[in-house]
Amino acid sequence: MAVAAGMLVGQPSPASDGVVRGATLYAEHCASCHGEKLEGAPNWRTRNADGLYPAPPHDGTGHTWHHGDRLLFDYTKLGGEKALAALGVTDFESGMPGFGHVLGDEQIRDVLAFIKSTWPEAIRHHQERVTRQEAKARAGE
Ligand code: HEC
Repeated sequence: MAVAAGMLVGQPSPASDGVVRGATLYAEHCASCHGEKLEGAPNWRTRNADGLYPAPPHDGTGHTWHHGDRLLFDYTKLGGEKALAALGVTDFESGMPGFGHVLGDEQIRDVLAFIKSTWPEAIRHHQERVTRQEAKARAGE
C-alpha cells in the first residue's frame, strides 16, 4: 500500500483522451528523432555534417513553444520545408519530414496536445499568446 500511495502523490491531473492518444502517437512517430523524453537529439543546436539541424527538444528547453499552433501543425503535417515555404522562407533545408500521409489532422492535434501537456504553465501561457498573435497576423493576410 505504501508504495502504491507514494506513486500517486504528485501525479499530474488525469490527462485528456487526446493527450493520452498523443503520447502513444508521439512514441511511435516522433520519439526516434525528438527523443523518448522529448529531450531532442544530442547537439541539436549544431548543424550535422550534411548541413541540417538535428531534431530539437519538444520540452521546455527547445523552441517548439516559441511557435504558434498553426505553424506547429503545418510543420508536422507538411514537413519543415513546405511549412516554411508557405511563410516565404525558401532557403532553409529542414530534416523534419511531413506526416500528412501517416497521421490525420486529429492525430496531429493529439500529438501536439501531448507535447504541450509536458510544458510548465508559464511556457504554455507564452505559447498561447504566440498562437493568438499568429492567428491575428494570418487573419490580416
Ligand atoms: C526523421 C526524424 C524526425 C521525426 C521522426 C520527427 N521529426 Fe520533427 N523535426 C526533425 C528535425 C531534424 C527538426 C529540425 C529541423 C527543422 O527545424 O526544420 C524537426 C523539427 C520539428 C518541429 C519544429 C520545432 C521548432 O522548434 O522549430 C516540430 C513542431 C516537429 N519537428 C514536430 C514533430 C512531430 C510532432 C513528430 C512526430 C509526429 C516529429 N516531429 C517527428 C526531425 C524529425
